[in-house]
Amino acid sequence: MPVDIVVGGQAGDEGKGKISAYLAVKNKYDYSIRVGGPNAGHTIFFKDKIYTLKTMPGGFVNPGTKLVLGAGTYIITDWLEKEIALTKAGHRLIIDPHAVIIEPRHTAAERADARMMDKIGSVGTGLGAALRDRVDRKALRFAKDEPRLKQYVKDVPELLNKALAKGSKMLLEGTQGMKLSNLHGEYPYVTSRDTTASTFMGEAGLGPKYAGEVYAVFKPYVTRVGPGLVAREMKDKVKLNKYHTAGREVGSVSGRLRRVGEFEMDVALQTVRINSATRLAITHIDMLEGADISRGVKSFTGEAKKFMGTLAKVCAAYPNPKVALISYGPGLNEVLEL
Ligand code: IMP
Ligand code: MG
Repeated sequence: MPVDIVVGGQAGDEGKGKISAYLAVKNKYDYSIRVGGPNAGHTIFFKDKIYTLKTMPGGFVNPGTKLVLGAGTYIITDWLEKEIALTKAGHRLIIDPHAVIIEPRHTAAERADARMMDKIGSVGTGLGAALRDRVDRKALRFAKDEPRLKQYVKDVPELLNKALAKGSKMLLEGTQGMKLSNLHGEYPYVTSRDTTASTFMGEAGLGPKYAGEVYAVFKPYVTRVGPGLVAREMKDKVKLNKYHTAGREVGSVSGRLRRVGEFEMDVALQTVRINSATRLAITHIDMLEGADISRGVKSFTGEAKKFMGTLAKVCAAYPNPKVALISYGPGLNEVLEL
């Protein structure tokens, strides 16, 4: 089926941006679609440059891929314009007229809300406040109302469905992860939207019939930038420092040092079921001892071997995903295909 979906299996920051970019180059998708808000940052190391994208889809790395923002996208126009300049991909960008503009008043309201900022640990971009206005049917500005974005606005569901009829292939890049889903996650320590595959399809204006491979992305450990559950959280300062430096586990939007905990099997099984994951993509395997792939070693030993055993248990959950990709460094091509 033509629409492959990338979802997060933990608390965000699993490496969805890198996996999306890798897949876009490999599969040469006709369209790369992103939904959700700029509270999520996807980091891509591409041609000696680091791109931290809050809105542009990771598929920008493949020059032939058109880039789409669906009706379920929330945009800070200034930030998007910066990303258009950075990626030089404005000529490939298409925005749904019903994507919502996050206005400065939304960002200010969220940042002034001590409960949201301190208790929930909101990134403070204003996504929640804009979404609340949409739910309340208050006056809002949409992409179609923003003169600076007018040139990109097109009927996305019509365009994508016409492209599907002609056999186009698409990549749909979701944001955040299982633990942060407002619907299925660890409420109230969640974001303002659901963060699973079916919702991403709806936010893009795509029906369920077109879903292809669903890639669930995991790290061998769990990180969280905000408060909320982290099972078996790491407290050892020396060990944590390795994650914050070598593992780059610092919030890409928030700048906060991420909390780190052990791999959570229950959440992984939930991810497989709720997203009907067919593929697992593992990132940051290089943080484990026994994964010296960069030095040409193809088989895992020690901690890495043990983790592959853990993954076998995840694959035993219906619909029995296969471990497809293992990322062993930040570079776009540092991926082992199984
Ligand atoms: P909000 O969605 O910005 O209100 O944040 C709600 C919770 O989700 C907070 O704990 C945030 O740190 C977390 N969160 C939101 N977006 C991301 C993300 O992209 N990665 C990791 N955590 C996130
Ligand atoms: Mg992130």
